[in-house]
Amino acid sequence: MTVKTAVLVSGGGTNLQAMLDAKKAGTMPHVDFTLVVASRADAFALERAKKASIGTAVLRKEKTEAPEAYGERLLELLRAHGIELVVLAGFLTILPENVVRAYDHRMINIHPSLIPAFCGEGFYGLRVHEAALARGVKVTGATVHFVNEIADGGEILAQQPVAVRPGDTPEVLQRRVMEEAEWILLPRTVEAVAAKMTEDRTA
Ligand code: GRF
Repeated sequence: MTVKTAVLVSGGGTNLQAMLDAKKAGTMPHVDFTLVVASRADAFALERAKKASIGTAVLRKEKTEAPEAYGERLLELLRAHGIELVVLAGFLTILPENVVRAYDHRMINIHPSLIPAFCGEGFYGLRVHEAALARGVKVTGATVHFVNEIADGGEILAQQPVAVRPGDTPEVLQRRVMEEAEWILLPRTVEAVAAKMTEDRTA
């Protein structure tokens, strides 16, 4: 039994790729990657999805659009595909409450730090690693968590520490956090959540 899963992306999609590779390798048996939704048409993640023969959609939030209206459009799309589990893998549009509520404990995010350090509003992409280096921490990492109404505030599912090395630039640190933490942690945790969902279904 599998769980119909949508991955929401905005950029390069290396975390999406890590999950697609894991699926191909047979380590995500409970996950059915049904749909990839991008917040922008030029997200390279879309190419990765197409190459893996996964359905794609682009859903851009218009500047004048109310957050809840965007959320409603997204929910319609997810419902139309029967999506049960949502993974945010570098998705940069803040999701409104109607979406968060609809996917309570069924929406997962990956954040490139050890929450509660360097997280919350404004901490995304390279900024997270810049802040870690500026503070001089010796250990950083990645966190996979459920999404709730607080930015990076949902229940923590898994964390993986990564060493900061002398001379690290934000770019070098970002890459190490991805290689040593994100790409391992996200597929493993999404599979664990999906496995639990199928278990609960049959209980
Ligand atoms: C990752 O660092 C992830 O932790 C963060 O956004 C980045 C996405 O990178 N949420 P990619 O698109 O998966 O390559």
